[in-house]
Amino acid sequence: MTDFIGGLPKCELHLHIEGTLEPELKFELAGRNGIDLPYASVEEIRAAYSFDDLPSFLKIYYEGMDVLRTEPDFYDLAMAYLRKAASQNVRYAEIFFDPQAHTSRGVPFDLVIRGLRRALIDAENQLGIRAQLIMCFLRDFQAEYAMATLLESLPYREWIVGVGLDSDEKGNPPVKFKAVYERARQEGYLLTMHCDVDQENSTEHIRQAIEEIGVNRIDHGVNALEDPSLVEAIREKGLGLTVCPISNGYVTDSMKADAIRRMLDLGLRVTVNSDDPAYFTGYVQENLVALADALQLSREDLVQLERNAFEITWLPRHLKDAYLAELDAYAAG
Ligand code: ADE
Ligand code: ZN
Repeated sequence: MTDFIGGLPKCELHLHIEGTLEPELKFELAGRNGIDLPYASVEEIRAAYSFDDLPSFLKIYYEGMDVLRTEPDFYDLAMAYLRKAASQNVRYAEIFFDPQAHTSRGVPFDLVIRGLRRALIDAENQLGIRAQLIMCFLRDFQAEYAMATLLESLPYREWIVGVGLDSDEKGNPPVKFKAVYERARQEGYLLTMHCDVDQENSTEHIRQAIEEIGVNRIDHGVNALEDPSLVEAIREKGLGLTVCPISNGYVTDSMKADAIRRMLDLGLRVTVNSDDPAYFTGYVQENLVALADALQLSREDLVQLERNAFEITWLPRHLKDAYLAELDAYAAG
């Protein structure tokens, strides 16, 4: 099954580019930028990765990205991820970036997005992997800062396919960003947001995302299963769910494999993704293998997960169809 998954044409829709910063690159960037890391080795960095919930993970995640300072840093970060993804036969990726995690420490938006954009173009030309950017707002910052970031993004509108919402969900419900999302929609952005797993008020946040924000997709969203009316709304609107099994295992009590099985059986457009692979130690291949092991997934299940993913991408129809045809050819072969 690992080989079958290896050859499967794959799609990644829930991936924080800052969460792909591997310790090796952290060291390289620290050296380049004259930053003294409080660790002597890659192993020491990895050993310091201890988290058991979302806030404890986020603390390490934000600290880690302090080495990202220049346009080439962001280029190298994205290029390293795209190389890894291409090696796993990820054919297409939608990549989150957190501009406020950089502008809040004095790193300009322009430099962040130029580095990422340049990597996406080079990766498509050199590696044949296509990718688009989704700009996330940090929900534990004020809505006004998100709005200012949205306005700052407008000159780069053509480089960003949609907006998302991430960081600490506790006390930061979707409706806090209602005006920001309304403006983002007016500007032509597609809309997604995290409804992280097992949060305080998870089901209410999912309801707000669907009914009050009108999202086009939900990141995680596993707790929707607790409320039949949410399941029905997700099915009726055909909303995709970008679920991250290995990540779930770190920040909640389990991978939520049984929930993913139920979502598949309910015919929901559930997908498997890696979230922050440098921290959660698994890219999309490892996530699919872990889930296949836990659930004894069939080849048909795995193909269905990727069919869901290509179907809910924010690509034009003809490109979706081209990837789906590739997937069908693999499944038939
Ligand atoms: N930012 C990066 N990874 C995240 C996650 N899993 N949940 C919320 N915000 C994040
Ligand atoms: Zn995430």
